[in-house]
Amino acid sequence: MFVDIEVNKPEPIATGIKTESFRRGSDVQHAIEVLEAGSPILIIGFYSNGLSLLQELHVHLSRKFPNTSFQEQRVYRSEYRKLSNLILVEIVGHKLAVRKSPSIGWLEKLYPETSDFLLPLPQIQGLNSAWQWYLNGVSIPVLRNKLHPYYGTYFPTRFEHLVLFDNWLKRYEGPKKSAIDVGIGCGVLSLQMIKYGFQKVFGTDTNPNAIVGLAEFMGDTKLSRKIELDFGHLFGRWEKQTELIVFNPPWLPKLHDLENLDEAIYYDEKLFPEFFLEAKKRLLPEGKLVLIFSNLAQITNMTEEHPIKKELAEGGRFQLERCLNRAVKTASEKTKRDQNWRSSEEVELWVLTHK
Ligand SMILES: C[S@@+](CC[C@H](N)C(=O)[O-])C[C@H]1O[C@@H](n2cnc3c(N)ncnc32)[C@H](O)[C@@H]1O
Repeated sequence: MFVDIEVNKPEPIATGIKTESFRRGSDVQHAIEVLEAGSPILIIGFYSNGLSLLQELHVHLSRKFPNTSFQEQRVYRSEYRKLSNLILVEIVGHKLAVRKSPSIGWLEKLYPETSDFLLPLPQIQGLNSAWQWYLNGVSIPVLRNKLHPYYGTYFPTRFEHLVLFDNWLKRYEGPKKSAIDVGIGCGVLSLQMIKYGFQKVFGTDTNPNAIVGLAEFMGDTKLSRKIELDFGHLFGRWEKQTELIVFNPPWLPKLHDLENLDEAIYYDEKLFPEFFLEAKKRLLPEGKLVLIFSNLAQITNMTEEHPIKKELAEGGRFQLERCLNRAVKTASEKTKRDQNWRSSEEVELWVLTHK
């Protein structure tokens, strides 16, 4: 099942392309000129040589773009992204060919048919940290077992919204035959519902990595008979009505900006109207529609609009049963100072019923 779904992964580059190389003692200035001319550089010797070149690139770009204005910082980031992705590392036999490099299991798992290729160093860094999360697992306060997030899948790093959902589930007294989890991600909400006795959860996601990752995580354990997956938009192939629909949607509106492409974080203007239209058809007459949201978009002045309040005011489909809020703890005093708005951040649990 799901073996034929193509997962998202960094595009491999064929070995054998002509590149200049960079090792300890190479001329940094020259290397940066090569990158700025749009040509790749291959890292030779130690993995740390690549990290030093990335560091030099930062130094170079902060000299070139010294202003802290929003616009200039954007140019800085986009230049860094462009140039750093020209720094390549060779992979031989599914392993990084440079010395003292991390061992990254994704190279074998994601590229079973290609053992030798090149990848940009920033992509390797991403694969490496994702491998650490996957291997070691992530503890989530509301779950007994760790999650093992698959490469390229959203997983929670703050938990207030999960605590809200947990408290709500604890008091939920309705039927527990089935539920739908739209945008299942790493499956945390589904696992919470199973924990509280739901017999069957139907999950969807538009991110193939989420679906493949969860299918692998569940294997053919008992869990795989309780959580059924579909790789698809909103409700996917799930047509049957259920007593509970949950959705932890992206929390920020997609601005017309190419940097914001992550579907776990940004929603387009069609997502919510379509979701409510389809949810109306799939919720049993006495069912509950639960949405997790946050005031993040409002307190960062990205939008005045709140898609759930808008639906309640104008949709004519659902009514509010209750809305629970919880303040988000600041990570540390330092982040509080840097990001003032964080102190007013709140997560929201919206419970809606048919009108
Ligand atoms: C904020 S994450 C929540 C993931 C998980 N439910 C959780 O609570 O940790 C949103 C998820 O919705 C998925 N998603 C975004 N748009 C979607 C759509 N139109 N249909 C189905 N899933 C979608 C994303 O890929 C992502 O996994």
